[in-house]
Amino acid sequence: MQMPCVFAEINKTRSMSFRIDQLLRDNIRKLVPYSSARDEFHGQASIWLDANENSIGSPLLKWYNRYPDPYQQKIKEKIAGIKGIPAANQFIGNGSDECIDLLYRAFCEPGRDNVIICPPTYGMYEVSANINNIEIRRAPLHADFQLDLESIAGLIDGNTKIIWICSPNNPTGNSIHFESVETILNNFDGLVVVDEAYINFARQKSFTQLLPEYPNLIILQTLSKAWGLAGLRLGMAFASEEIISIYNKIKPPYNISEAVQELIIKALDNVEEVNVMIKEIVQQREWLRNELTTLPNVKHIYPSDANFLLVKVDEAKKVYDYLVEKQIVVRDRSKVPGCEGCLRITIGTEKENKELIEALKYFS
Ligand SMILES: Cc1ncc(COP(=O)(O)O)c(C=O)c1O
Repeated sequence: MQMPCVFAEINKTRSMSFRIDQLLRDNIRKLVPYSSARDEFHGQASIWLDANENSIGSPLLKWYNRYPDPYQQKIKEKIAGIKGIPAANQFIGNGSDECIDLLYRAFCEPGRDNVIICPPTYGMYEVSANINNIEIRRAPLHADFQLDLESIAGLIDGNTKIIWICSPNNPTGNSIHFESVETILNNFDGLVVVDEAYINFARQKSFTQLLPEYPNLIILQTLSKAWGLAGLRLGMAFASEEIISIYNKIKPPYNISEAVQELIIKALDNVEEVNVMIKEIVQQREWLRNELTTLPNVKHIYPSDANFLLVKVDEAKKVYDYLVEKQIVVRDRSKVPGCEGCLRITIGTEKENKELIEALKYFS
């Protein structure tokens, strides 16, 4: 893996050759994947005796005695209709967290390879690396929470497999500049993952439009945020067909349950409803920002393209504890390097946001 350190000379067009078989772990390259009953027979039949299911039924009104579609084709077709990304370029995971973990398992050799994260950022890139015994290298964001390209370039070596970028970033809320991500894509021949969990709340366009240009780009999205379906657990990875085929090779055979698939298929018909919720959350975000600005112990509210605000306050821990006493739970990020003194506040309903502001007015 290479990346020039002299940024004045950085390539504006892609100069790297991406060879997925060189990135893959040896054992995964050689892996003979599990072949499920649903992989081995496609077609119509009236008697199914191939998967050791219970043919009699389920102890429920609706039966779930059959294994679900391992590749969630109906969901992928609906997502293709909504996002314009072909089904062949999609992987569906049990939450984005599964999409994150599978990348480590496919591409990163425990005890040898490393990945780069840009803190403060979403914690699972690091936790998942630790679970898989992969070295984490840190290129902290600049004070404006944008990427430090020089620091990233300096960390890359021959064992760097993945650069994780979160945009809009959690917990800072800002989108990462498009050109910075393009610079990395043009100069790094490992995988570049852009996690767009909060993209529906952002002014900036999605990085998915770069997918046809960059075979090493993976975009993660989720139905846990704007779509309001966190309890169902559905994350998406969008990438080249080659990368998707690796995901499919190593995933648990039936990673999305039948009940979840049914509910998601219904939910995906309701894009309009989701757009109404997004509009309301964005309006509430701006209302909350204005109200917070008027409070004396609020020192700074960072720009947000997400469904939360990062707010610097005097005595963050005391404010946090005070709110908990009032039965209001926010996230204390004050110990996170780069977010000192900050609380991360998710945008609630209009009523919840009003109650939060009322409570904060009486904090002394
Ligand atoms: C940036 C980011 N990515 C991924 C996730 C997890 O998404 P999922 O619920 O799909 O696992 C979160 C959850 O908070 C997140 O903030």
